[in-house]
Amino acid sequence: MTALGSFKMKIDLDNLDLVAKIDRSDMIGAVNHFPDAFKRRTDVMVGELRGGRSGIRSLVLMGMGGSASAGDVVLDWLRDELKIPALVHREPGLPGFVNHGTLFVGISYSGNTSETLNAFRAAKSRRAHVIGVGTGGKLSDLCSQLGAPFLEVEPALAPRAALGQLIVAAASVLENLGLVRSVVREMSEVGAELTGLMGQFRGQTPLEKNPAKRLATDLLYHFIVLYSLQRMSSVARRFKNQLAENSKELAKYDILPEACHNGIEAWRGSTRSMLPVIIRDGDESAFERSIVEAFKSTISSVAKAHPMEVRLPGRGRLARLLFPIFFLDYASVYLAILKRIDPTPTELIEEYKSRLASRRGR
Ligand code: F6R
Repeated sequence: MTALGSFKMKIDLDNLDLVAKIDRSDMIGAVNHFPDAFKRRTDVMVGELRGGRSGIRSLVLMGMGGSASAGDVVLDWLRDELKIPALVHREPGLPGFVNHGTLFVGISYSGNTSETLNAFRAAKSRRAHVIGVGTGGKLSDLCSQLGAPFLEVEPALAPRAALGQLIVAAASVLENLGLVRSVVREMSEVGAELTGLMGQFRGQTPLEKNPAKRLATDLLYHFIVLYSLQRMSSVARRFKNQLAENSKELAKYDILPEACHNGIEAWRGSTRSMLPVIIRDGDESAFERSIVEAFKSTISSVAKAHPMEVRLPGRGRLARLLFPIFFLDYASVYLAILKRIDPTPTELIEEYKSRLASRRGR
């Protein structure tokens, strides 16, 4: 697999002039900035809620694409502490339970995503406590009209490059409302640790010492099938999305142990180009470790490609989510460059949005 990747590889990832010619808007630079948002102190005041915090009995984090990824990470990070049911929601309609006891956080980087705006309006009409997060746009206008709090985040190269600031904003809302403990210290510690990791992954570090560049060369020409434990699924889904948006690469992700009870069978029909990549958590319980190892050895007996593993140990829960996200974000950009693709433009997403808007007559 590595040999195939390097044999067909035409781009020298260490040639920074050539890389800059392909990565025209500097997505690598945007990934370099990922740690910054976690190092800034954000004082988020969302005001007094009707009925106080005790009135909140469920939590919905709503968003699409890159904005939804922030909700995924926040729940993987803080779910154990949250004493109320919580989910990440990704469609214009609402689940039946949303009511006056729901905290509904609408996350949209641009503020103009129609599915998110629709759900936001619907949540307000169900008398949920609504809060907006983003850079502005219609969501910010809607919040002003409704007298709802809006948290403005710093702009980035693209919504997916604003993951850090969207996570910080959403987690700060939960902290400010007393739904979770103080998260500020953990965020700033992880921010500093991410900056430390950057030296290994950034463009200036040559391929032989750069695991992100090496992973990208190994992934080239493969259909990538990602696996992780449920509580690391934000990492697997983010990487699947980054492979699509940055590298224009079709990939899928599946969750363990559920995939051991169905998807595992599909490896009998796999081809050489189908590559299983298992995203590990450095803090797996003995039971979880057994699940992952049993899965890996079972598919190894039939898959044509040997399963790869991604494992970046970190001290706390947030670190164990953000370290692999940071590493894999770099790998997705390097993979784009190996394919001579500028990672930044997402023309089909824009086309979808404008087709949707014209069908809805806006
Ligand atoms: C593009 C990207 C997309 C957007 C999505 C929703 O970089 O990541 O997945 O995040 O189309 O748009 P926003 O985030 O503006 O609500």
